[in-house]
Amino acid sequence: MPDFTYEIEDIELAQQGLHRINWVRERMPVLGRIKEDFSRTRPFAGMRIGICLHVEAKTGVWMDALTSGGAEVVITGWPGTTQDEVAAALVAEYNVRVFAKRSETTNQHLDYVAKVLSTEPHLIADNGAELHMLAHTNSDFSGAKAKLLGATEETTTGGFRLREDIDEHIFPTLIINDTRAKRIVENRYGVGQSVLDGIMRCSNLLIGGKRVAVIGYGYCGQGIARALRGLGAHVTIVDIEPLTRLEAHLEGYHTAELEQALPVSDIVITVTGRPGALKRDHLALMKDGAVICNAGAFENEIDLPGLRALASEPHQIMPDIQKFKLDNGKIVYLFGRGNSINLSAGDGNPIEIMDLGLALQSLSLAYLATNGQSLPAGPQNVPGEIENEVAVRTLRAWTRS
Ligand SMILES: NC(=O)c1ccc[n+]([C@@H]2O[C@H](COP(=O)([O-])OP(=O)(O)OC[C@H]3O[C@@H](n4cnc5c(N)ncnc54)[C@H](O)[C@@H]3O)[C@@H](O)[C@H]2O)c1
Repeated sequence: MPDFTYEIEDIELAQQGLHRINWVRERMPVLGRIKEDFSRTRPFAGMRIGICLHVEAKTGVWMDALTSGGAEVVITGWPGTTQDEVAAALVAEYNVRVFAKRSETTNQHLDYVAKVLSTEPHLIADNGAELHMLAHTNSDFSGAKAKLLGATEETTTGGFRLREDIDEHIFPTLIINDTRAKRIVENRYGVGQSVLDGIMRCSNLLIGGKRVAVIGYGYCGQGIARALRGLGAHVTIVDIEPLTRLEAHLEGYHTAELEQALPVSDIVITVTGRPGALKRDHLALMKDGAVICNAGAFENEIDLPGLRALASEPHQIMPDIQKFKLDNGKIVYLFGRGNSINLSAGDGNPIEIMDLGLALQSLSLAYLATNGQSLPAGPQNVPGEIENEVAVRTLRAWTRS
């Protein structure tokens, strides 16, 4: 038994988790080479890294690379997306301190985030700015602040929160999402495939011929729309930016206002990175029998309290499908409880895609370990050399015959 504190569903699941991690590891050659490099150079010797990221198999392979580089790692995940067997394997086999359960509530999640920060990490890898918000707004963590050399932030939404909700930054943060590498490779190609995978896995629905509204036509929305079209769906794009709607029109998609799209859509997918993309009044407009799901980082893109206020108690009809009867008599189905559908009903972005994303994370953290103290505080770009290095390594791995 490990001699450190952790909170997971069941340590007995470790063997299952190990199988998952091993399947993934063999398909992450870029991270594999980085692990070899880190084992030699030990960039994190004597350092602790605090992480808030979905606890799933690809993250597991990444933890192994970081610990091989000398780091002590403490991680929490997100409600509804943790793979409990991977959490168990990380604790039992990799000596990673994990505070994460698939069944965790929002309050538990916040408690776990606090537990990670209270270990006073030297570096942070964040997803959605959870650790950042706590470090900057709660005076209980002054010890942690003093130690922090720097951080990374993975997501679009986390980038917004860092720029809009924190007035005075206290350490440098490299925004992984702002790299072209992540936006193009992961957000466009990875999310497109994995969101459809999540929808199809949990529902067994045919996509061809369905009318699907994609709300938000950014990098992720473009990828989702492209994947939907590839399977024969009739795609309508809703976006608040007129120029973005024009771009969608030029790509051959139907564009519409939300109020026009909802009554005729069989499936509605939110992916704006902003709260309240689908509000209570919108929900009442939906077609009878329609599906709602979210692909953005936070479930608050859908007004879930508003949905609950409009409807009778939901029936959990399948593991990732809840049925709501609205007070106007219509039925709507919520997939994945509003969490990112590719993670709640699937395994997240494809393995090869996250090989690139986590390679960017790894080299960014190693850069911060050496240079963090001399960088200005606040959000900033990943150095171009790191992005190029990862692109070169990935292309080499993917085109090797
Ligand atoms: N599920 C995943 O695996 C995954 C992976 C990467 C990113 N994400 C998340 O997906 C979300 C979108 O990311 P992105 O990189 O595409 O962002 P982006 O900024 O490139 O695009 C967002 C788009 O939404 C539009 N928009 C904003 N508010 C809107 C509203 N109320 N109604 C309609 N359109 C609106 C914007 O005009 C923009 O075109 C973020 O939350 C991001 O963190 C999820």
